[in-house]
Amino acid sequence: MVQRITEETFETWKHLRMNKSSFFLPEQGSTIAPDVDSLFYFIFTAAAIIFLIVVITMALLVWRYRRRSQEAGLTPGKDHNLKLELLWTIIPTILVLITFVWGFKTYLKMNVVPRDAIEIKVTGKKWMWIFDYPNGTNSLNELIVPAHRPIKLLLSSEDVIHSFYVPGFRIKMDVLPNRYNVTWFEAAGEGEYDLFCAEYCGTGHSRMLGKVRVLEENEWNKWLEEGALKVNENMPLPELGKLLTEKKACNTCHTHDGSPLVGPTFWNLFGHTVELSDGSTVVVDENYIRQSILDPMSQVVAGYNPVMPTFKGLLRERELDALIAYIKTLKAEDK
Ligand code: CUA
Repeated sequence: MVQRITEETFETWKHLRMNKSSFFLPEQGSTIAPDVDSLFYFIFTAAAIIFLIVVITMALLVWRYRRRSQEAGLTPGKDHNLKLELLWTIIPTILVLITFVWGFKTYLKMNVVPRDAIEIKVTGKKWMWIFDYPNGTNSLNELIVPAHRPIKLLLSSEDVIHSFYVPGFRIKMDVLPNRYNVTWFEAAGEGEYDLFCAEYCGTGHSRMLGKVRVLEENEWNKWLEEGALKVNENMPLPELGKLLTEKKACNTCHTHDGSPLVGPTFWNLFGHTVELSDGSTVVVDENYIRQSILDPMSQVVAGYNPVMPTFKGLLRERELDALIAYIKTLKAEDK
């Protein structure tokens, strides 16, 4: 019975709420969004109607049974009304059951990943999002997906708890260290949606923002082939370089604040002369940095172990330029 009522209410409300965005909720960007929204509006409307009934009745009763004069005495007490009690027990019970069945169905829909979903690895990290696609391409802070295809997200964190939140898709999932979480969505059409971190994760939390870009499937395939090249196209070189030092894990061995680690620091490096392990000296310029990234063993700085892996084939030209540009910015202010 409840099942049937739920079905019917659900269908009616779903069709009522097919518009794009509303006063309360952002644009419906995923296939699950209409389900979530219609349930929200159902609960909201029921609550609003109950609120009005309770408040209006209360006001009327207060008015009707107010004490009219000093001599009038008290209104006789009323202790039982079977009809009323049945009414306010049965109606809320039905409402709660509808909400439960409806909510549970939507919950299942949101949590059972379709078999043919494309899996994308999401890594949260202070303070950025890294996306790894099936073919090995990756992107930073911008998730690129095809429209009308289920996308499975496998989420984990490299440090603290983050939370992956795309209001337009009505999905939010915790991103935990040492553990994988899963969520999925299917974008209802092409467009761009905001991505937020919804768990306070430190100083950069409010800047841990991203975008979800939904492309037409062929375009997405083309993008995958070209890789993340376009994603970083508009980013200034030094900024991209800075991101790359984290993304490519340069910062595991090189600091940018002057302290030595496994390798020399990037701080105040550019333009200075360094001594190499073979006793010769070299000025750190664009060519030296480039060669050190692509062929690290050729010019090892004295006092450091030759342990750096080559990044040949792992960095695009523009990414090399970006790293060089970033290292150039790491210098003391001219006095
Ligand atoms: Cu990551 Cu807040």
